[in-house]
Order: sequence, then C-alpha cells, then structure tokens
Amino acid sequence: MNGHAVRYLWTLVMLPLFWGQAVRPPALGAQPSEGDLAGCALCHGNLEFLRQHSPDLPTAQRRMVSMEEIRASAHLNSTCFSCHRGFDRWPHPEGTVSLHCGSCHEEADAGWHDGVHGTPDQMGAEPVECAQCHTAHHTATLESLREGTAMRAMNGVCVGCHETSGLPQGDPHRDKVGCASCHGPHETHDVDEVHAAVAPLNQVDTCGACHEEEAEWGRSDVHGQALRQQRPVGLATLELLDGQAPPTCTTCHGAHGMSTARGPARMEQTTVCGHCHEHALETFDDSYHGQASALGSVAVATCSDCHGSHAIYGEDDPRSMIHEENLVESCGACHPSSRAAFVQYQPHADHNDRENYPVVYWSYRLMTALLVGVFSVFGLHSALWIVRLTLDTLRAPKGGAA
Ligand code: HEC
Ligand code: HEC
Ligand code: HEC
Ligand code: HEC
Ligand code: HEC
Ligand code: HEC
Ligand code: HEC
Ligand code: HEC
Ligand code: HEC
Ligand code: HEC
Ligand code: HEC
Repeated sequence: MNGHAVRYLWTLVMLPLFWGQAVRPPALGAQPSEGDLAGCALCHGNLEFLRQHSPDLPTAQRRMVSMEEIRASAHLNSTCFSCHRGFDRWPHPEGTVSLHCGSCHEEADAGWHDGVHGTPDQMGAEPVECAQCHTAHHTATLESLREGTAMRAMNGVCVGCHETSGLPQGDPHRDKVGCASCHGPHETHDVDEVHAAVAPLNQVDTCGACHEEEAEWGRSDVHGQALRQQRPVGLATLELLDGQAPPTCTTCHGAHGMSTARGPARMEQTTVCGHCHEHALETFDDSYHGQASALGSVAVATCSDCHGSHAIYGEDDPRSMIHEENLVESCGACHPSSRAAFVQYQPHADHNDRENYPVVYWSYRLMTALLVGVFSVFGLHSALWIVRLTLDTLRAPKGGAA
C-alpha cells in the first residue's frame, strides 16, 4: 500500500470522530493546539479524499491548504479558524461563510470601500476582492510588498487587469517600486479625480515620499508656491495645455515612461519649459546656446543649467541662480573664465524689446540698417553696372576684330 492510500484510509477511519462534532476553535490570538490544526489538516491535507468530495481535480487542489502555507504568509500567527469560523463541523454546515478580511483590517477595508476597486461602478463591474490582490493563503507582509519578488508579483497582478497600463521598458520605476506606491493600494481613484494620489496637488506628497529632496524644493520654489495657490481642481486644468498653470512633478517628468532625468529628458526640456514660457523659449532659440542646442550640442546650457530644476526663482530673488550675485558662479560651472563682465551677456536678449534690452535693440537696428544700406548701395551699383554692360555690348561694332 502506498502513502496516499494509507492517508485516505486513515481519514475514513477518523471521519466518524468528526461527524456532527464541534472542532473547538481556539480563542482569537491564542496558539492553537496541535489537535485543532490536525482537525482541518486531516482532510484539507489529503488530496485523494478532497478529490472524492470535489467536482473536479482543480477544485480539489484549491481546497488543499496547509498550516505551512499560512506560517509562511503574513498571517503567521493565525490559524484556519481565525478566518473560517463555523467550519469546525463536518459536514461543513450549508451556507457557512468565512470572515471577510475587512473584519480584522478595518482601515484597509474603509480605504478599499472608498476607492474604485471596492466600489462597483454603475456599469455593474464586480468589485476587486482583497484576496484577488493579496491571495487568501499566501498573503505577503507589507514590508515584502515594497521590494523584491512580492512587489513584482503584486505589480503583475495589477497589470493582469490593467494590461495596457504597465510601466514600459526603460521607465526608472519599472520593477523598482510598486504600482500602489503611486496609486495607493486601497484608496485608488481614477487618475483625473481630485483625491487621486497622483492628482496634481497631491504629487508633492506622493512622489515626495521617496524623493524627499525634490519635494522640499517643490514646496518652496516659484512653481511650488504657485501650485499651492491653486484650489483643488481636476487634473485637466493643470495639464500642459494650459500655459498659465504651474507645473507639477509629472508635467516636467511625464508619468508612465518618464525618462530618466539625466538622460534624454535634457533635450526635451526646452519643449517642456517652453510650452509655458514661450517668450523665453523664442529668445533662447535665438541665443548662442539655443542655436548650438538646435545643432545637437549637449554641452551648451539648457534651461535648467541656468535656472535650476527644483529651486527655480525669479531674477530678483537672492536664492535664484540668475540673481546678479550668483550669475558668475552659475555661468562659471561651464565657463571657467566667467567674470562680472562676462555675465553681462543676456541669454534672453530680445532685439525687439527696446525697454529691457536697449543695447541689443539698437545694435540690431544699427546692424540691420547697415546691412540694408550696404546691400541697397551695392544692389543699385550692380544694377547700373548690368545696364551699362548691356548698352556697351549693343553699341559695340558688329563683325571684324576690334
Ligand atoms: C472531515 C474532513 C474535513 C475536515 C475535518 C475539515 N474539512 Fe473543510 N472541507 C472538506 C471538504 C470535503 C470540503 C469541500 C466540500 C464541502 O464543502 O463539503 C471542505 C470545504 C471547506 C471550505 C470551503 C467551503 C467553500 O465554500 O468552498 C473551507 C473554507 C473549509 N473546508 C475549511 C475547513 C476548516 C477551517 C477546517 C478545520 C476547522 C475544516 N475545513 C475541516 C472536508 C473537511
Ligand atoms: C481574524 C483576523 C484576520 C483576518 C480575517 C485577516 N487578517 Fe490579515 N492580519 C491579521 C493579523 C493579526 C495580522 C498580523 C500578523 C499576524 O499576527 O498574523 C495580519 C496581517 C496581514 C497583512 C500584513 C500586514 C503587515 O503589516 O505586514 C496583510 C497584507 C493582511 N493581513 C491581509 C489580509 C487579507 C488580504 C485577508 C483576507 C484574505 C486578511 N488579512 C484576513 C488578522 C487578520
Ligand atoms: C487570513 C485568513 C485565512 C486563513 C488564515 C485561512 N484561510 Fe482559507 N480562505 C480565506 C479566504 C478569504 C478564502 C476565499 C478565497 C477566494 O474566494 O478566492 C479562503 C478559501 C479557503 C478554501 C476554499 C478554497 C476554494 O477555492 O474553494 C479552503 C478549503 C480553505 N480556505 C481552507 C483553509 C484552511 C484549511 C486553512 C488553515 C490551514 C485556511 N484556509 C486558512 C482566508 C483564510
Ligand atoms: C488592488 C489590489 C488590492 C486590493 C483589492 C486590496 N489590497 Fe491590500 N494592499 C495592496 C497593496 C499593493 C499593498 C501594499 C501597500 C504598500 O506598499 O503601501 C496592500 C497593503 C495591505 C495591508 C498592509 C498595509 C495596511 O494598510 O495596513 C493590509 C492589512 C491590506 N492590504 C489588507 C487589505 C484588505 C483587508 C483588503 C480588502 C478590503 C485589501 N487589502 C484589498 C493591494 C490591494
Ligand atoms: C511613479 C508613479 C507611478 C507608478 C509607479 C505607476 N503609475 Fe500609473 N499613473 C501615474 C500617473 C501620474 C498617472 C496619470 C496619467 C497621466 O497623467 O498621464 C497614471 C495613470 C495610470 C492609470 C490610468 C491611465 C491609464 O493608463 O489607463 C492606470 C490604470 C495606471 N496608472 C496603472 C498603473 C499600474 C498597473 C502600475 C504598475 C505597473 C502603475 N500605474 C505604476 C503614476 C504612476
Ligand atoms: C481584478 C482586476 C483588477 C486588479 C487586480 C486591479 N485593478 Fe485597478 N481597476 C480595475 C477596475 C475594474 C477598475 C475600474 C474601471 C475603471 O475605472 O476604468 C480599476 C481602476 C483602477 C485605476 C483608475 C483608472 C483610471 O482610469 O483612472 C487605477 C489607477 C488602478 N485601477 C490601479 C490598480 C493598481 C495599482 C492595481 C494593483 C495594486 C490594480 N489596479 C489592480 C480592475 C483591477
Ligand atoms: C519645472 C520642471 C520640474 C518640476 C516641476 C519637477 N522637476 Fe524633477 N527635474 C527637473 C529637471 C530639469 C531635472 C534634471 C536636473 C538635473 O539634471 O540637474 C529633474 C531631476 C529630477 C530627479 C533626478 C534627480 C537626480 O539627482 O538625479 C528626480 C528624482 C526628480 N526630478 C523628481 C521630481 C519630483 C518628485 C518632483 C515633484 C515634487 C519634480 N521632480 C518636479 C524638472 C522638474
Ligand atoms: C516608492 C518610492 C517612489 C515613488 C512613490 C516615486 N519614485 Fe521616482 N524613483 C524611485 C526609485 C527607486 C527610482 C530609481 C532610482 C534609481 O534608479 O537609482 C526613481 C526614479 C525616478 C526618476 C529618475 C531619476 C534619475 O536619476 O534619472 C524620476 C524623474 C522620478 N523617479 C520621479 C518621480 C515622480 C515624478 C514620482 C511621482 C509621480 C515618483 N518618482 C514617485 C522611487 C519612487
Ligand atoms: C545661459 C543661461 C540661461 C539659459 C540657458 C536660459 N535662461 Fe532663462 N534667464 C537667464 C537669465 C540670466 C535671466 C534673467 C535676465 C533676463 O531676463 O534676460 C533669465 C530669465 C528667464 C525668465 C524670466 C524672464 C522672462 O522672460 O519672463 C524665464 C521665465 C526664463 N528665463 C525661462 C527660461 C527657459 C524656459 C529657458 C529654456 C528654454 C531658459 N530660460 C534658458 C538665463 C538663462
Ligand atoms: C505648466 C507650465 C510651466 C512649466 C512647464 C514651467 N513653468 Fe516656469 N512658471 C510657470 C508659472 C505659472 C510661473 C509663475 C509665474 C508667476 O508667478 O509670475 C513660473 C515661473 C517661472 C520663473 C520665474 C519667472 C519670474 O519672472 O519670476 C522661471 C525662471 C521659470 N518659471 C522657469 C522655468 C523653467 C526653467 C522650466 C522648465 C524646467 C519651467 N519654468 C517650466 C509655469 C511653468
Ligand atoms: C551647461 C554649461 C553652460 C552654462 C551653465 C553656460 N554656458 Fe555659455 N556656453 C556653453 C558652451 C558649451 C558654449 C559653447 C562653447 C564655447 O565657445 O565656450 C557656450 C557659449 C557661450 C557664449 C558664446 C561663446 C563664448 O564662449 O563667448 C556666451 C557669450 C555664453 N556661453 C555665455 C554664458 C553666460 C552669460 C552664462 C550664464 C548666464 C552661460 N553661458 C552659462 C555652456 C554653458
């Protein structure tokens, strides 16, 4: 006789002992006695027996649950009874239901009810149950859900339903952070909702949980300040489309598929900043740095090299990189010969703006006048020359050598 047969027979022998009997549940939190555990394991550890009482093999396999699995999960101190009260009788009474996870985890439950996954929408979608994300018996601890295998497995569960919303290859967060660290695990909201963790006004906190330094700047710099003055409005009004609104983290960085800040994003900057600062972009494009950038140079200055990225202030603010006290140093990062005279150069000089850039304005006018003058004089000169040549040719005696 093999092992399976022995266990099957043993179960049959033991069965009458359980029939109609109460398998006494231990007090909540107390260590169960071996006898209590053996009660469930006797049948739920015996595939052959379960198969006899199940419609098919997969169902029987699902009903195989061991205490070892529970001990290896977040519920290491729980027993079968903790969640399955009422299953202490055999045959299991008709209609016995297990405890909902939420009966012990009230906070998570409240958040879940508040979010999209716990609220079936009007279209009649089913709620996403706790166990669909956490599994019933292999629940990972919070700590392990934040890095490594368990975190990636959980992300896989999210992508299983949100097939087109995974993080693309090359995203700096891919496989490094959980989807839930940006979207919230339970109070997950539609991304264009004011309460969403990724909504514009919440990003400083959400992203800032991991990027503290950047978030600190985001709270104080000219963009951060302007953002704080916004009333809680939906995402749409803060999108790039509206050039008047201040940027949030994702306006500058993008969301899914954001580029690494030091990578290609550098070259996209002029487009991103320029979307809201059109005039500054135009004048930058006309400048030496702008022209060189357009030709593909990555060594020349782009917006953030002179203005900073998370500590941007107006020209008059002493903290600003472009404050007159700081310019020598700011330009000096790339121009070792930077002196007070050198920084007189105006990176945004506008030759049409007489009030702010009189030197450039008049130089431009003068150069243009000179250019127009020179070309006019020489143009007239050439035209007259052609007329004269033509006349000379016509008047010249025909035939015979001169
Ligand atoms: C004598 C064998 C036996 C014992 C002992 C036993 N079970 Fe079961 N259990 C079964 C079988 C067979 C099924 C599947 C069919 C059914 O529900 O009758 C089942 C089903 C279940 C289900 C699933 C019910 C459903 O709705 O699908 C749970 C939960 C369960 N048992 C928990 C327990 C717990 C907890 C214990 C220990 C307190 C336990 N069982 C003890 C044989 C047993
Ligand atoms: C009977 C109460 C009870 C039920 C029901 C219950 N849990 Fe727990 N859960 C606990 C306790 C207590 C802990 C702390 C670990 C321990 O002592 O076992 C815990 C830990 C956890 C953790 C890890 C928390 C951390 O900080 O690491 C998660 C996740 C979790 N439970 C999810 C669930 C899910 C999902 C369900 C439903 C399938 C569920 N729980 C059902 C009591 C319960
Ligand atoms: C933390 C709570 C928790 C603990 C501890 C727990 N279960 Fe479960 N169990 C659940 C939940 C929730 C479900 C329902 C899962 C679902 O619907 O997908 C479940 C489902 C089951 C099922 C039905 C499986 C199926 O798919 O039909 C069986 C059988 C079962 N549990 C037995 C046990 C046994 C035996 C133990 C102890 C070794 C145990 N469970 C410990 C929460 C728990
Ligand atoms: C959409 C998937 C999903 C659903 C549905 C879900 N959770 Fe979670 N849960 C997570 C993730 C991901 C984490 C890890 C959160 C983190 O990294 O901060 C988590 C963390 C937890 C924790 C530990 C942290 C805490 O908040 O205490 C508990 C307990 C928990 N969940 C219980 C539940 C319960 C109970 C339900 C059902 C009412 C549920 N979860 C539904 C994904 C989910
Ligand atoms: C670094 C933070 C971050 C991480 C990590 C992240 N997201 Fe997002 N996600 C966002 C932001 C911000 C938006 C808003 C979209 C926009 O503004 O274009 C968004 C949008 C979404 C949307 C709604 C729009 C759509 O694409 O349908 C879903 C669904 C989504 N994310 C799922 C996921 C999943 C699944 C993962 C994990 C694989 C994940 N997210 C990881 C920040 C993040
Ligand atoms: C069982 C399927 C399922 C799982 C697993 C799941 N979701 Fe969802 N999710 C949904 C459904 C259904 C909706 C609501 C449909 C909608 O609003 O488009 C939704 C909505 C969302 C939204 C709002 C989408 C929007 O358009 O703004 C985000 C963000 C989201 N889920 C993130 C997650 C994350 C993160 C995880 C993993 C921790 C996850 N989901 C796991 C089914 C799932
Ligand atoms: C006005 C546009 C803008 C906003 C708003 C912005 N960033 Fe940045 N961020 C940048 C630029 C430009 C860089 C590249 C800076 C560099 O190379 O010095 C950068 C770099 C980064 C880096 C990489 C830093 C490093 O040292 O490698 C992180 C992380 C980051 N930002 C996160 C954030 C977070 C979080 C927020 C919101 C609190 C945010 N950013 C808001 C423009 C912005
Ligand atoms: C759970 C923590 C976490 C959250 C939340 C988070 N990030 Fe990150 N972020 C990381 C990690 C980890 C990296 C990868 C760093 C590395 O590769 O060295 C990263 C990388 C980045 C980078 C690229 C940095 C570089 O050096 O190129 C940017 C930009 C960034 N995050 C912005 C954001 C923004 C914007 C948000 C909010 C929408 C956000 N992050 C939310 C942890 C987080
Ligand atoms: C070589 C350094 C440098 C570069 C590159 C640069 N700036 Fe400036 N920026 C300055 C200085 C210096 C001032 C203050 C003097 C002035 O207004 O001409 C200034 C002023 C500004 C102002 C405030 C004045 C105004 O026009 O409203 C904005 C906004 C601005 N820059 C945005 C940008 C943007 C956007 C880019 C990239 C397309 C950029 N800057 C590139 C140095 C630079
Ligand atoms: C979504 C639009 C938006 C984007 C993108 C944006 N800004 Fe701004 N910026 C603003 C707003 C709004 C203000 C605040 C204007 C005010 O308070 O007068 C501002 C203020 C400034 C100022 C101070 C101007 C002054 O006169 O005080 C500078 C410098 C600046 N931004 C540079 C940048 C740079 C560099 C980038 C790219 C890294 C950038 N901005 C991206 C909208 C934007
Ligand atoms: C990120 C590096 C960087 C920063 C910061 C920077 N530049 Fe430049 N700049 C360059 C490079 C590279 C060139 C082209 C090579 C060269 O000729 O030196 C250049 C060229 C110039 C030129 C024309 C050629 C020359 O060398 O005279 C002027 C003028 C100039 N920069 C002024 C400034 C001023 C003023 C500042 C500060 C407001 C500044 N730059 C900040 C990198 C930078």
